[in-house]
Amino acid sequence: MNEVNAAILISGFGSNLKNIINSNKKNEININIVCVISDNPNANGLNIAKNENIETCILTNKKELNQELNKILGNRKIDLIILAGFMQIIPSNIIKKYFGQILNIHPSLLPKYPGLNTHEKVLENNEQEHGATVHFVTEKLDDGPSIIQGKIKIKKTDTIEDLKNKVHEIEYKIYPIAIKWFQKGLIKQEDNFFIFNNQKMTQPIEHVLL
Ligand code: GRF
Repeated sequence: MNEVNAAILISGFGSNLKNIINSNKKNEININIVCVISDNPNANGLNIAKNENIETCILTNKKELNQELNKILGNRKIDLIILAGFMQIIPSNIIKKYFGQILNIHPSLLPKYPGLNTHEKVLENNEQEHGATVHFVTEKLDDGPSIIQGKIKIKKTDTIEDLKNKVHEIEYKIYPIAIKWFQKGLIKQEDNFFIFNNQKMTQPIEHVLL
C-alpha cells in the first residue's frame, strides 16, 4: 500500500493521539498524520498536535458535521480516519464514503458495554475482566467488526480510576498494532466480519498482555 494519509479525530485529552504520534516517530507504524480534527476547541489534544506541527482543524458547526468533515477529509486526500476519543457520531455519508477506512478505539471488551461510562458499569456488574477494543466503524455506535482486543483481570480493589488507567495502557498497545495492520493492507472490513491476511475473522484477535 502507498503511504497512508491519516486524520485523527479527538474531543479531549488526546493521550491516544500522543501515543500514535510517538509510535509513528519510532517507526512502529508509518503513517502520514495529515491533520488532527476536534469538535472541541479546548481539547488538550489540539496542543499536542500543534507542538508536533501537525495541522489542526476545529469543527465549528455540529449540525453541518457531514459537510464540514467531508470537506476537510476530501481536501486532504485522507485514506484512514482514526477516532481517538471523538465524542460525536460520525455522519452516515462519511461512514459510507470511507467504508473500511475508519477505526475506533473503545474502552471495553465489545460487544459488552458500548457507549459511555464503561468502567463504572464493569465494576457495578462485578465483571472479572475488562479491556479495550479497536474496531472498524459502522453506523451503529461502538459496533462494527472488532479487530483486536486487550484484556485485563479486575482486582477487587480496583477503582474506576484504576480501570481507566489500566485500560489506557492497553489502548496504547493495541491501537498502533491495528493501525500497522491497516497500513500494511493486512486487514479489510466486510459487513459483519473482517479479513486478516486473507482469512475471514468473526472474532477479534486477542492481544495478550504480559
Ligand atoms: C479512550 O479511553 C478511548 O477508548 C475512548 O476515549 C478515550 C480517549 O482518551 N474512545 P484520550 O483522549 O486518548 O486520552
